[in-house]
Amino acid sequence: MEELKHVAIIMDGNGRWAKLRGLNRSLGHKEGSKTLKKLCLHIADKNISYLSVFAFSTENFKRSKEEIDYLMDLFIEMFRKEFQILKEKGVKVIFSGRKEPLRQDVLDSMAYIQEQTKENHNLVLNICLNYGGHSEIIDTTKKICQMVENHEITEEEINEELFEKMLYQDLPPIDLLIRTSGEYRISNFMLWQMSYSEFYFTNTLFPDFTEKEFDQILDNYYQRDRKYGGVKS
Ligand code: IPE
Ligand code: IPE
Ligand code: MG
Repeated sequence: MEELKHVAIIMDGNGRWAKLRGLNRSLGHKEGSKTLKKLCLHIADKNISYLSVFAFSTENFKRSKEEIDYLMDLFIEMFRKEFQILKEKGVKVIFSGRKEPLRQDVLDSMAYIQEQTKENHNLVLNICLNYGGHSEIIDTTKKICQMVENHEITEEEINEELFEKMLYQDLPPIDLLIRTSGEYRISNFMLWQMSYSEFYFTNTLFPDFTEKEFDQILDNYYQRDRKYGGVKS
């Protein structure tokens, strides 16, 4: 059976979920946030150590001010109130992404939930917020250049292991990447971490995604044969 340490989810389809019901896109995001909470509680009971979720991409700033403001307010509500139950379940919340140009009240709520859950060890929830895979690689490269310039390391010491440690968060590679809503693309998600991930695409819109479907995807994953370029007998 394949090992499963790190699951990642591109939570897509909130807008279409709302549109299908004649609702404002924002209500799709609200419903999606409830799905995420349920899913985290479910995964916290499993033998999975890391869950990374794509909450807001650097490209999502192209959306209307109304939608961006709604999402930012929703994040604050989640980190200040809704996620308190995750704290009790032993979930440790961390973030990946750039701070600029996030609002100060959003940054404060992120710092709050991180601080509240920092001693937890059950499941690490890595929330990618204002995150871009290219930005992460560029920011990491700059950090490493700075270390060389400061004589903390030599150029010869730069290798894949060091690069991985210097990314936004020091995480193991993604074993299983799930994208909802029937889109077959990566949309600038965790490019470095998914070099050998198993992919699973489902047509389900994220607000309709259930714990049961998640378990079915795990069953599918455990039947796969990961070869990493080698040959298995
Ligand atoms: C994903 O749902 C959530 C975010 C990108 C913040 P979308 O808002 O992209 O939903 P669709 O793709 O328009 O249905
Ligand atoms: C990716 O979804 C970002 C998040 C889920 C937060 P998008 O809906 O923004 O991606 P595209 O635009 O369809 O590629
Ligand atoms: Mg989308």
